[in-house]
Amino acid sequence: MLNGKQATIGQSADPEKDAILVDGKPVKREQHIYLILNKPKIVVTTLADELGRTTVRDIIDIPERVFPVGRLDRNATGLVLLTNDGEVANRMMHPRYETAKTYVAMLSSPVTPQLLERLRKGVMVEDRKVAVENPVKVNLNTVQISIHEGRKHVVKKLFVQLGTHVDALTRTELGPLRLGTLKPGESRKLTPAEVSSLRRALQLEK
Ligand code: URA
Repeated sequence: MLNGKQATIGQSADPEKDAILVDGKPVKREQHIYLILNKPKIVVTTLADELGRTTVRDIIDIPERVFPVGRLDRNATGLVLLTNDGEVANRMMHPRYETAKTYVAMLSSPVTPQLLERLRKGVMVEDRKVAVENPVKVNLNTVQISIHEGRKHVVKKLFVQLGTHVDALTRTELGPLRLGTLKPGESRKLTPAEVSSLRRALQLEK
């Protein structure tokens, strides 16, 4: 049955919007779960680690199978999204949707006006320029930047190109999601409003 009427062969239906009954029972659609975690240092952003190191899966307290979207270095901290929504995960990692990622980097040297200017111009990492949005000096040695790409170690490499070194790195924002007051090791489910803004940012809903 589709929306109270006998369904016909070849008819299409949307499990998000249509009422679908098979043998009188509603068809269950997979319940999507979205969690944000403040990853502490030392924890790896994988589901299983061949070296037996603690993974993000080990430190979240839910029975459902969720997987981390993208990666964050072992010695970095901050926002990691975990979900079982493959569509959201794929889009977040697809360059077309240009998900912004904001990082706070503590450097081994002071944040100078020259450094901010070079960041604003974009920085070549390997053979591609990383566009840096809105670099802001946070304090003497600490700077906040937003980028739209997820190449491995890209933030660390970018600062090496500028003649300095990242001593500590935290991701504070991912698309419309904010780390907020979550402490390292803490996680929470996204609110329905956060899920909607995430899906809108990824053009999965209007
Ligand atoms: N860039 C890095 O260097 N490390 C991360 O974990 C993420 C981005």
